[in-house]
Amino acid sequence: MTAAPYRTDLPGPSGDKYLGNLHAFSSDPLGFLTDCSRRYGDVVRLGENNVLLTDPADVEKMLVDRDSLFSKASADTRRGSRRQGFPHSTMNSDGDRWKAKRHRLQPAFGRSLSTKAAEIVDAQGEKLLRTWLPGQARTLQDDIAVVTLRLVTQLMFGDEFSDRDTAEVARLVAPIMDLSTSPVLLPEWVPTPRKLRIRRSMARIDRTLHDLAASPAAHDPERAPVLHALVHGTPAPSPEELRDELATLIMAGFETTNDAVVWTSFLLARHPRIAERVRAEADAAFATTPAGLPRMEALPYTHAVVRESLRLYSPVWLTSRDAREDLDFGGYLIPAGTTVTVSQWVAHRDPRFWEEAEAFRPERWLGGGPSSVPRGSYFPFGLGPRVCVGAAVATTETVHLVADIWRRFRLELTTPDRVHPRPALALQPVGVEVIPRPW
Ligand code: HEM
Repeated sequence: MTAAPYRTDLPGPSGDKYLGNLHAFSSDPLGFLTDCSRRYGDVVRLGENNVLLTDPADVEKMLVDRDSLFSKASADTRRGSRRQGFPHSTMNSDGDRWKAKRHRLQPAFGRSLSTKAAEIVDAQGEKLLRTWLPGQARTLQDDIAVVTLRLVTQLMFGDEFSDRDTAEVARLVAPIMDLSTSPVLLPEWVPTPRKLRIRRSMARIDRTLHDLAASPAAHDPERAPVLHALVHGTPAPSPEELRDELATLIMAGFETTNDAVVWTSFLLARHPRIAERVRAEADAAFATTPAGLPRMEALPYTHAVVRESLRLYSPVWLTSRDAREDLDFGGYLIPAGTTVTVSQWVAHRDPRFWEEAEAFRPERWLGGGPSSVPRGSYFPFGLGPRVCVGAAVATTETVHLVADIWRRFRLELTTPDRVHPRPALALQPVGVEVIPRPW
């Protein structure tokens, strides 16, 4: 950082004498962050060693231009994320180690993986939708979880992963995913029931993934492209690395996509005219492209719907890093060691940059998207070098599954007013119970 008269008196809520803003954050994180950004501006002191950036130019500067000046892994640990449970993964590494791991992982996520994702999601979607009876209520989150988990495990391991294995992993991953947003961390040795459950799950995940990595599928790039790329990548991964990569990929790819599909369906159920347009487009796309083949190009409107849903209900709602050195943002000095946070929830709904920010308007994405919106105002998959490796797969999967569902049924919400976001590790939709109706 160049020497300049940067200010150090960061504005922000003063909070409780002892606990600071812990209570305000824990009880309503989304409301708290939004309120901070509206009241205090572009650089907000959230508490001791914690800063929120809300100017899109600063978001871009942090995630793109200055990525190497931040550490991701330590910020996650401070936030209490259990992703730290898998420290040898790409997701949880920094610096040169991260670079080497990302380099090994990236080739598996090429175009052919999205084609495979389309094929799997159509088959799994079809299987699920055959069990839906018109008029019979469904808990959407649970139903979609079967498809999204099956997809991610099949991309990793191929057919080696049976329905039983999938259900088992879902059961094991659930307590790890079921995290509160509380930044209060008890010391590791305090054996809370949840921690014990997580530890037991980790041990089982360890064994299951170890067995799968040793299976013949690991040698077949067609059947198990991701596992194959990892096992045969350079440098060859250690058993711990392999386990951590696979476990974080399952977690990163499963819950986020699940939430994206459910939030999109919730929005379509609330906007029947938009849903009708999705249905018409999906019908036409199915008429020209056989099931199992990617039909993204035939689904531009559905794609716009998904992009708009990722704006309003971005499954990743918060991204944090630790400053490795003293840095400046918005004229303020941010000392080394500060945890710097940007929030998709805040940025994606910022009325300074979005017209009718709270409205569901897929049209804004047609023809390439809104040109007046700065890059740092929309980042559901992150930005810069650490952008989501699974973004293309996740988009294909979400668009396909939404089209598959809405072509067959229109969904009616049983209790629309009870639906709300739960900001855990991902932004979970709570209370989305639907009744499928014939068109
Ligand atoms: C709608 C679904 C998804 C969303 C919203 C999402 C979002 C994100 C975001 C925001 C990041 C960057 C986090 C940061 O900057 O700290 C990220 C990273 C990552 N995502 Fe995704 N993701 C999704 C699906 C997937 C899928 C399907 C996979 C793989 C199967 C995946 C694997 C990863 C990995 C490995 C990283 C870490 C990349 C790195 O650190 O180099 N994600 N994701």
